[in-house]
Amino acid sequence: MDFSELVKKRYSCRRYLPDIVEKEKIEKCIDSARLSPSACNSQPWSFIVVDDPEKLASVSDAAVSGIYGAPKLMAKSPALIVVIADKGSFMSKVGGMVRETSFFLIDIGIACEHLVLQATELGLGTCYIGWFNEKAVRKELGLKRSVTIPLIITMGYPDESHRSKDITRRLAKGDNRKPINEIMKYQ
Ligand SMILES: Cc1cc2nc3c(=O)[nH]c(=O)nc-3n(C[C@H](O)[C@H](O)[C@H](O)COP(=O)(O)O)c2cc1C
Repeated sequence: MDFSELVKKRYSCRRYLPDIVEKEKIEKCIDSARLSPSACNSQPWSFIVVDDPEKLASVSDAAVSGIYGAPKLMAKSPALIVVIADKGSFMSKVGGMVRETSFFLIDIGIACEHLVLQATELGLGTCYIGWFNEKAVRKELGLKRSVTIPLIITMGYPDESHRSKDITRRLAKGDNRKPINEIMKYQ
């Protein structure tokens, strides 16, 4: 698929068909994330795929517990990709401290976008979830307290009937992004 077409095709999919996502497709998405660039090539990412229906239900419950109550988006997704970040290599951490930036989070963002665009190319829908109870999810997955989970990505085959509504709404307002002359300049 042409890259600009792919970018336009991706959207935050919040309604999925109940069909399971094939493991080969999930692995292809994670392989695309694996090939992402990262500061000092520290590759500060790993991914837990939750596609067992019982586990998915318990992780979703944990994710929306406490103040994080939200529509049942996660529970109704055929798969969840739980994104795990480590703080990056020593060099990346030192560089980040000097630059007062978190290179590892930039790396995670790039890797996740690789994953999501690959999913789009395979006909899958995805949605980033940043608003969730990280502590409860960590506990549910038996992870140590030091583990950081910046994002969960929902994944499944999009319910296209819903998408067409989203698109109509979006087109009515333009593409709902800031215009290019507001976000760039030449100097
Ligand atoms: C880091 C990040 C966190 C996000 N967290 C959530 C979330 O918790 N819940 C949700 O429904 N959407 C979430 N989104 C999706 C955004 O709302 C969405 O990308 C944005 O509104 C633009 O819409 P589009 O993705 O359909 O183009 C998140 C996106 C990003 C990049």
